[in-house]
Amino acid sequence: MNWGIIGAMDEEVAELKKEMNIEVTRQIAHVMFYKGTLNGRDIVLCKSGVGKVNGALTAQLLIDHFQVNVIVFTGVAGALDPKLNIEDIVISSSCQQHDLDATALGFSRGEVPMFSRESVFKADEMLINQALAAGKHLSDVEVYTGKILSGDQFIADKKEVEDLFLTFDGKCVEMEGAAVAHAAVVNEVPFLIIRSMSDKADGEATMNFAEFTKRASARAVSIIKGMLSER
Ligand code: ADE
Repeated sequence: MNWGIIGAMDEEVAELKKEMNIEVTRQIAHVMFYKGTLNGRDIVLCKSGVGKVNGALTAQLLIDHFQVNVIVFTGVAGALDPKLNIEDIVISSSCQQHDLDATALGFSRGEVPMFSRESVFKADEMLINQALAAGKHLSDVEVYTGKILSGDQFIADKKEVEDLFLTFDGKCVEMEGAAVAHAAVVNEVPFLIIRSMSDKADGEATMNFAEFTKRASARAVSIIKGMLSER
């Protein structure tokens, strides 16, 4: 197995980059790829940059240029489900683009128009189970599975949180996961998105994001490391 591992920001990939054994470094477009091993497992680590376009194009580059057969995303998100606390973890059962809106044409919110597949992208069951097993070893935080929403917006408003939670039943919101999922699904590559909460996407989200991104990033990475240490 050759795992593609994506984070959007430096904080999300720094620890894995430090710990992996890098054999090849290669830049394609604006994305740096680090090919090597971690715990004896083949990985290609990269930082996509923020937003859905960056997420999707990075996933496609991993598939086309590095022949990865699994894509895992690690990073932070804003909580939508009021049960969630900062640093809690969400493992994607599925992903959806909450800002895709062709309702004027009769499509539902979040539906990819004229698309031959489901607009709610299902994550790989085996990867979900591996992540949950890795999560059992974490203390002080809860690990949930649920739908992860993505859009090209940093959400920092309680009303929007309520709307996204009620409309889509999303557990958390971020800016890349569903785009990575979309690219993975159309290429038939299994994927998983792992997110730890840096904030609650409310009026305090901007401050919390600045304060908790580093710690939350480390939480998500600990799930990946747990998954990679299983044989
Ligand atoms: N990533 C982390 N927090 C977020 C938020 N509140 N909105 C969108 N993406 C995020």
